[in-house]
Amino acid sequence: MRRKIVAGNWKMNMDLAQTESLIDELTRNMPETVADVMIAPTFTSLYRAFQLLRTHKIEVIGQNMHYEDNGAFTGEISAGMLKSVGVNTVILGHSERRAYFGETDEMLAKKVDTAMKHEMEIVFCFGEELEDRKSGNHFQVVESQLKNALFHFPESAWKNIILAYEPVWAIGTGETASPEQAQEMHKFIRETLAAAYSEELANGISILYGGSVKPGNAGEIFSKPDVDGGLIGGAALKAEDFIAIAKSF
Ligand code: PGA
Repeated sequence: MRRKIVAGNWKMNMDLAQTESLIDELTRNMPETVADVMIAPTFTSLYRAFQLLRTHKIEVIGQNMHYEDNGAFTGEISAGMLKSVGVNTVILGHSERRAYFGETDEMLAKKVDTAMKHEMEIVFCFGEELEDRKSGNHFQVVESQLKNALFHFPESAWKNIILAYEPVWAIGTGETASPEQAQEMHKFIRETLAAAYSEELANGISILYGGSVKPGNAGEIFSKPDVDGGLIGGAALKAEDFIAIAKSF
């Protein structure tokens, strides 16, 4: 059975006090669920979040990191720094990082290498823009994003990778990919992995969907055979919504 995952990407939201209160609500109300639950608070709240969740099964993960281990990179955070505050999983390749901070496939390949070197788990995000879908290039775009950042790894390294397909046109827009569109792409991703590596790898890897997942649509999206959970933005900021999504498998 593939691992089911619901991960909340808090983005640049929630200061320290808000982090504490959202975590308090989550820990008091999160029921037993088949899914592994993760939250990605902003850097300044990570250590506090880790302390509060030390004995809880919600995992605290990072939103980003640099590929160098240290040095003159003002404003950046390294893998070692994340690990030093209890964070062992990091989101890489989010479309907002690609679009607003110029992250390219080449940079992402280096970041993924660094995360691997530090034995971290990676939630790797990718997905097409609206023009790509309109012109019918979405499969090609997704394939090349995966190839450029991840296909230099041997099969054994993939145990540390979780994939998150996030069509850019569905992120924060309220417009969700239909469950059929998500399933179609997730199936394509598995086929691509089977061709490049093996059926075993393709069938074992968790592939999350992200982009305007809400309590009202999560159940249907997660019920698709190749969708193993979600990366949740806006709806992760309200305990009630995030919990409802985590329960919707
Ligand atoms: P959204 O964000 O749920 O607000 O669309 C998803 C994401 O960016 O991971």
